[in-house]
Amino acid sequence: MNQSNKKHLEFIKNSGVNYFLQDTPRNWFESEQNSSFGSLKDVNNDKLLKIQQIVEKIKVLDTQLKNTAKNLVVYDGSIDAKVMFIGEAPGKDEDIQGLPFVGKAGQLLNKMLAAINLKREEVYITNVVNWRPPDNRTPTDDEILQFLPFLQEQIDVINPDYIFLLGGVAAKAILSTPLALGKLRGTWHKYQSLQLNKTVYTIASYHPAFLLRSPQYKKASWEDLQMLQKKLNEKN
Ligand code: URA
Repeated sequence: MNQSNKKHLEFIKNSGVNYFLQDTPRNWFESEQNSSFGSLKDVNNDKLLKIQQIVEKIKVLDTQLKNTAKNLVVYDGSIDAKVMFIGEAPGKDEDIQGLPFVGKAGQLLNKMLAAINLKREEVYITNVVNWRPPDNRTPTDDEILQFLPFLQEQIDVINPDYIFLLGGVAAKAILSTPLALGKLRGTWHKYQSLQLNKTVYTIASYHPAFLLRSPQYKKASWEDLQMLQKKLNEKN
């Protein structure tokens, strides 16, 4: 066998000998669409792999928060989501279960989602800081900055059309402003990343835990949610 035939055979073997040995000629075009090789499924596996790689990087991040927290809390929901919800940091229940927004604030978030016909399983839910701060204290600016690159990376991988920021910490991290939510809410902001070749429309609103303590702000929160629902309906 000459060298170039040998190389060709090796190439074919390496690219999947089961396809090479089929009875009928392969219709490459049809297979592109129907098989899991090179199809949408691969794109999603690729996304999942990238998110898993981010999780691994957060795991080895040098932070004091690890000393007091029980579990790393990164995300819940769908990696194919069109909308990302970003909170502050895990609380007690989240720390125990290793999932974001599973306590009382999470139950309210589920209701907020349902009110605009969204299911928890179809949005991507995460936090700015991924380890629970002791006694649920607010993350410091240094902690926010330390975790921010991983949040930005998640946004790049998920590639959402909309981001909904829950509370002042998420607003500060993503919109890079110390302005209070009262000033930021009720209007669309634009999030731009170097990696994503698009503008992600972003809204900042009240955190569900704050709404539980101060229900008089629920009306404003509902208005913000409706702004998101309107955009989503326009797209469909
Ligand atoms: N508050 C947050 O900001 N995130 C959670 O995951 C739970 C409560």
